[in-house]
Amino acid sequence: MGKIAVYPGSFDPVTNGHCDLVQRGLRLFDKVIVAIASNGTKNPLFTIEERLEMLKETFKEMPGVEMDCFDGLLVNYVVKRGADAILRGLRAVSDFEYEFQMALMNRKLNKKVQTVFLMTGLRWIFISSSIIKEAAQFGGDTSGMVPDIVCEKLKEKFGASRP
Ligand code: COA
Repeated sequence: MGKIAVYPGSFDPVTNGHCDLVQRGLRLFDKVIVAIASNGTKNPLFTIEERLEMLKETFKEMPGVEMDCFDGLLVNYVVKRGADAILRGLRAVSDFEYEFQMALMNRKLNKKVQTVFLMTGLRWIFISSSIIKEAAQFGGDTSGMVPDIVCEKLKEKFGASRP
């Protein structure tokens, strides 16, 4: 059986930074499971179903990528899926502290589960789901930063008529 990575997150919504990381992950793993944590972000903009739909559309032509949702502890989900590692992206140094804390906590919870960090491509280094939502909320154009389907959904949520 090939190597499997679980790429967990809120994906509220998926960005081109996430896509870049999945592509990088596929160079190391045979399968990348993009897994939405259903108990993740406190006030999500998109429902789990909407986020799943956007992920499916984004990765529809990428064999080796699977989409799923999970409840509860990430390490338990990783074991349940028979995965070899957790995949996470690092952008700026500011990500490091939070990621380091999460990786160590996950290791404490299950020492067999490893976390693999990959650097996001330089052009996506400033993009986060939060900043995309912030821009879209005030009518900013997010095309080129998120998949087309996400751009459309953001316009639907916030209204396409804004300047
Ligand atoms: N400024 C700018 N952006 C911010 C921010 C801030 N202050 N705080 C958060 N964000 C961004 C994040 O960067 C992320 O954007 P991204 O998806 O583009 O990276 C987005 O807001 C959502 O962040 P967050 O809600 O923290 O979720 P996450 O996508 O980083 O994923 C999980 C976190 C789901 C992996 C983690 O919560 C988890 O594993 N949950 C399962 C429960 C569990 O096992 N917990 C124990 C593990 S320690």
